[in-house]
Amino acid sequence: MEIKPLDKDTIIAEACCGSGYRILGRESELTEQERTILRAAKIKAEWLKKMMPKGLSAQIAYEDEGAVGFIEYMPIELSNFYEGKDLYIVNCMVAPHTPPFPDPSQRKRIPGCGSALVQAMIEDVKGKCKGIVTPLGFAYTEDMVAFFARFAFEEFENEGLKMLIRRFGPVQLPSAVCLEEKYKYEPVQGKVVVDVFWSSICPIVGPWTIFNIREVCEEFGDKVIVNDICIDDPEVLLKYGISLWSKAFFNGKPAEFWGPPEKEEIRDKLEEALEVR
Ligand SMILES: CC(C)(COP(=O)(O)OP(=O)(O)OC[C@H]1O[C@@H](n2cnc3c(N)ncnc32)[C@H](O)[C@@H]1OP(=O)(O)O)[C@@H](O)C(=O)NCCC(=O)NCCS
Repeated sequence: MEIKPLDKDTIIAEACCGSGYRILGRESELTEQERTILRAAKIKAEWLKKMMPKGLSAQIAYEDEGAVGFIEYMPIELSNFYEGKDLYIVNCMVAPHTPPFPDPSQRKRIPGCGSALVQAMIEDVKGKCKGIVTPLGFAYTEDMVAFFARFAFEEFENEGLKMLIRRFGPVQLPSAVCLEEKYKYEPVQGKVVVDVFWSSICPIVGPWTIFNIREVCEEFGDKVIVNDICIDDPEVLLKYGISLWSKAFFNGKPAEFWGPPEKEEIRDKLEEALEVR
């Protein structure tokens, strides 16, 4: 296994979220789902290009067949959801893991891969900040406390925010940004209005969600209006006060999807909104 830093050659592999090995270089033989992952990854890659000059970085794990995992981190000042200074924050990490998601053929675990990624991140940032913070876990491995403890990360709680921190020296603890939801549903006579807020930071909960919503809404023709609102820009995020990476509203009714919503789930919500109408 080799760990490579984020740069122009590794950016698309990073954006594929650990699936690069089964997508990149095989573009002519992809399944529909893999094509969607690649489309979503291209949107994430554009976001990465904008964030890299501001200090975002990542480490990517490669096996013979290609990229199999990554860890992504950035100065906490770049985060829309946390306040702090002299800290890096981990945005996400994936090493081949079980249970598999989103594809059942996901690669088998490579013992030591997760550790190598964390170690490479620490080496990269230790001279640049006073500490690193990370959530207690991520989507498919919610409890990573003992895993991160191997690298001297400790739990902390500050103003209700619970996270893990690896200190390199004395540092002020970060806090969560409290966003007041200002979104207001604007009805359109005779139509279902779908307002979708999404971020590029996670290709799965952001771009993939908007692709599925757009495609299903098209099936309903002019009965449905889709307002597609990207909240990468902090000013746009503050205007609406959305505290999640992605959130959709069907006629003003919130729907939180974790991972890309199934098209059937979206159809049901649209049918429901059409009936109420
Ligand atoms: C957590 C994760 C990074 C571990 O990766 P890994 O490659 O298995 O890690 P390592 O092999 O380096 O593990 C080192 C040690 O930590 C242990 N460990 C791994 N995950 C652990 C966990 N969640 N809790 C406690 N210990 C853990 C391993 O068993 C191993 O112990 P050992 O050396 O005694 O065998 C990986 O499972 C993962 O990426 N999970 C998904 C995270 C996720 O949901 N990301 C968001 C996707 S959108």
